[in-house]
Amino acid sequence: MLSKKLIDEINEQIKYEFFSAHLYLSMASFAANNDLPGFENWFIVQADEERFHAMKFYHFLNSRAEKAVLKGFDDPKENYDDIIDAFAYSLEHEKFVSSRIYHLMDIAQEEKEYATISLLNWFVDEQVEEEDNFGRILSQLKKISGNEDGLFRLDRELATRVFVPPVTP
Ligand SMILES: [Fe+2]
Ligand SMILES: [Fe+2]
Repeated sequence: MLSKKLIDEINEQIKYEFFSAHLYLSMASFAANNDLPGFENWFIVQADEERFHAMKFYHFLNSRAEKAVLKGFDDPKENYDDIIDAFAYSLEHEKFVSSRIYHLMDIAQEEKEYATISLLNWFVDEQVEEEDNFGRILSQLKKISGNEDGLFRLDRELATRVFVPPVTP
């Protein structure tokens, strides 16, 4: 049986994962509005990934005979100075999510809750990938800053991203 503290924190995490999906969908819309359909696609796929993360926690709680609780959240940020600003904001958000996963891991380890630790190990690895993805595109955007040709080339590259459910252990 999971402790109430752990259940509450996992439910809180489900909220953050769905919020992340919402945030990235708002960035997709920002990109579409700025004639960047490739970036729009990339963010839509990212939102799919975030919903997958949320559902992973949801199924975990329900499979442990606990109840996943869906919570509401505030509106995501809607406007950005430019696409670089959106990626800088995203990277900070991902760092925050990583700190949340570490917080959950601290509790799970304190309670010697090995099944939750195993689940969270997957998320620790996933966050490394998430921060790397956002960080790499942010640094590419900085390098091509002011170069429209470079921006449109990157946009075409990001148009090819498709949602593949991450491999789970
Ligand atoms: Fe996530
Ligand atoms: Fe993420």
